[in-house]
Amino acid sequence: MAYEFSILVLHGPNLNLLGKREPEIYGKSSLDELNMLLEKKAQDMNIALRIFQSNSEGGLIDLIQQNCDVSGIIINPAAYTHTSIAIRDAIASTGIPTIEVHLSNIHAREEFRHRSMIAPVCIGQICGFGVNSYLLALEALKRYIIDQIDSRR
Ligand code: DQA
Repeated sequence: MAYEFSILVLHGPNLNLLGKREPEIYGKSSLDELNMLLEKKAQDMNIALRIFQSNSEGGLIDLIQQNCDVSGIIINPAAYTHTSIAIRDAIASTGIPTIEVHLSNIHAREEFRHRSMIAPVCIGQICGFGVNSYLLALEALKRYIIDQIDSRR
């Protein structure tokens, strides 16, 4: 059966170390385990995922530019959340509905994590639910995309 639509999932710097990196903050699941959960849920929802991780700002921007045909983007820009005008501009240039996700609640942490350069060009931000932040984002994005299609009918 053909998938309903495709969603790009981007993991930013240091997220390749999930499970080993500060597990008290980011949880015990590895990136592979998180991606498997996402793939399983996406399959149940009839969505095709393209999942990538990059430790570099340019790498994330290239991936956004190379996947402009998707219907939605879920991105955890990690530390670039707080600094990257370039990633923000890349997302804005696509016009693709994007959800920013974080494993931790960035608003309950150090002050420098409270500001997101990315959130203003996203349809929303989900943070603080560990790996469930991504799964919730998948549901929210699917609903958003379907509502958009319905409103054009
Ligand atoms: C993070 C939060 C960021 O502040 C941090 O730099 C990360 C991970 C999260 O998922 O909680 O690398 O994006």
